Amino acid sequence: MRSSYRPDRFTVAIDGPAASGKGTLARGIAETFDFAHLDSGLIYRAIGAKTLEGQDAIVAAQNFDAEDTKRDGLRTSAVSLAASEVAAIPEVRAVLLDFQKQFARRLGGAILDGRDIGTVICPEAEVKLYVTASAETRAKRRLLELRETNSEITYEQVLEDVKTRDERDATRASSPLRPAHDAIMLDTSELSIETALELARSHVREALERLDQAKAD
Ligand code: DC
Repeated sequence: MRSSYRPDRFTVAIDGPAASGKGTLARGIAETFDFAHLDSGLIYRAIGAKTLEGQDAIVAAQNFDAEDTKRDGLRTSAVSLAASEVAAIPEVRAVLLDFQKQFARRLGGAILDGRDIGTVICPEAEVKLYVTASAETRAKRRLLELRETNSEITYEQVLEDVKTRDERDATRASSPLRPAHDAIMLDTSELSIETALELARSHVREALERLDQAKAD
């Protein structure tokens, strides 16, 4: 079902730790409301992948092209950790700000998922969701994904990766992972993806209705 009211600019920001389900929610919302979707983690993954090939992280960020996010192999554990490392470099983040800010305010509506969307990239977003789940739940989910391409990987390895990234993403000085003060918290540990998605959709619908109402008043 699509909402009938459509302001020119409308941004949904979804932040949360690794494998919290924010990407699945973002894709579902983008589809329901016909918003453009940016998985900002893919930007850091693309740059992380280039550093694994020997490039300097800042140079890779300066040469970033949106097409880079479409390359294969960006979901491996090695790239995940490299992404988390390059994402802690302030110069890398600074170079990527404009691209993300422009995406967020593009015409027709946008949804972005990441770590700093509601706090840094688009504090003016009309809807901000902060999606969490326990580290163990997230590791189980990520294991299922990774097993599709790597049958050797173990739950313990994935849990360790998730915890290492959580720690680095949340404690870095530059744009650390944290909820915006006005974010809606969504803990998906005990929720099915369908229930979580329905909740997220209802928050988007309410925001659209509020804007519609405000326009009419
Ligand atoms: O969402 P993800 O797991 O694909 O993100 C990969 C890494 O990129 C993550 O460990 C932290 C970093 N990241 C970030 O610092 N800021 C964002 N907006 C998105 C991702």
